[in-house]
This record gives sequence, C-alpha cells and structure tokens, in this order.
Amino acid sequence: MQTQSEPIEPVRVTVVVGSNREGRFGPVVADWLLTRIADRDDVVAEVVDVAETTLPTTFATDAGARTQLAEITPKLAAADAFVVLTPEYNHSYPAALKNLIDWHYTEWQAKPVAFVSYGGVSGGLRAVEHLRQVFAELHATTVRDTVSFHNASASFDEEGRLRDPAGPDAAVGVMLGQVVWWGRTLREGRAARAYGG
Ligand SMILES: Cc1cc2nc3c(=O)[nH]c(=O)nc-3n(C[C@H](O)[C@H](O)[C@H](O)COP(=O)(O)O)c2cc1C
Repeated sequence: MQTQSEPIEPVRVTVVVGSNREGRFGPVVADWLLTRIADRDDVVAEVVDVAETTLPTTFATDAGARTQLAEITPKLAAADAFVVLTPEYNHSYPAALKNLIDWHYTEWQAKPVAFVSYGGVSGGLRAVEHLRQVFAELHATTVRDTVSFHNASASFDEEGRLRDPAGPDAAVGVMLGQVVWWGRTLREGRAARAYGG
C-alpha cells in the first residue's frame, strides 16, 4: 500500500493514433492531446501511430511482421493505460486500427482504454461505441468520459490551435482524471494478483 509520502509513479499512457489516410487530420488532434498530457505530472505518454506501421492484414508470421511487432508490442505491453485516437469512417473506426488491435491480446488486458474521437457531424462517437465492444472482448475496461471533435477540421485553426478550447480542455481533464484513476488502480491490481482472464 502506498503511503501519502511516497511519490506515485506517473501513469504510462500509450496514445494510439488510429488513422492512416494520406493527408489525414489525425496528427492535429494527436498534437493537441499530447500537449494536454504534457501539462500534467501524473501521466507520461508514448505514441503508437498506425500510419507508421505496415502490419500485414493476416496473421502471417513473416519477417516483416515480426520486425514491426518488435517495435510496437513493447510500447503496448509497457502501458498502464491507453488513449485511442480515432476518426469515424462510415460509422465506425479505421480498418488499420482494428488490425493493430487484433495483432495483440495480453497487452490490452486488465488496463483502461480511453478515447479521443473526431469526424464530421458524428464527432467519431459511433466509432468509439464500436471500439468499446472490441476492447471488452480483450479484457480491457473502457473509460466512460471521452473527448470528441465534431466537424473536427473546422474546430482548429491553420496552426492547429483550437478555436474554442474551453470545452475540449475541460473534457480532456475529466477523461485523463479517469485514466489516471483506472491506470493506477489496475496497475496495483495486476501487481498484486494475476488477472483471472
Ligand atoms: C472513408 C471516409 C468515411 C467517413 N465517414 C464518416 C462518418 O461516417 N461519419 C462522420 O462523422 N465522418 C466521416 N468521415 C469524415 C472523417 O471522420 C473526417 O474526415 C476525419 O478527419 C478523418 O480522419 P483522418 O483525416 O485522420 O483520416 C469519413 C471520412 C472518410 C475518408
């Protein structure tokens, strides 16, 4: 049991950037999120970007896949928590994100997964609800509060700054507060006893 005088290790959050279209908007939202995380001393971030991975779409055990996994998998395994950044494509999340998720199993287990979503009118909310079902199957717990950007490209200026930051800044504070609570709690739980999955 940690006493009040002991410093609490920051929650290690792996931010998964879920879009990989040429000319994608995802990095603008990712930069905003990473800056908000950097403002806090109770969270440290690592990034896995699906655009920088070329995982095959089958479970082939070829050398290319092994090389990719050697780079990605440790970043997922080391995480106490995840924030998945997802756009909405045709009422769901990107195929490349699903492929990254499916290449892993225990790395997600007994950890919290939070979401930042963006899109057109939907703000990516339908993508998030689909992802909650996927992560339930992987024994992850999804965080209740999210951040969503509706008509995302219009929400940021040419320099990637939010035109009206008050709402998203408040929402990300709530979401990261829940990530820290779940991240610490499940880290302690995993250390205390093996997960019974
Ligand atoms: C193939 C495709 C399907 C889309 N479907 C939806 C949709 O169902 N709902 C929505 O609100 N936005 C939709 N959009 C808008 C995207 O969510 C928006 O352009 C977002 O910026 C895409 O993320 P990205 O630029 O990082 O790839 C779609 C965009 C594309 C390219």
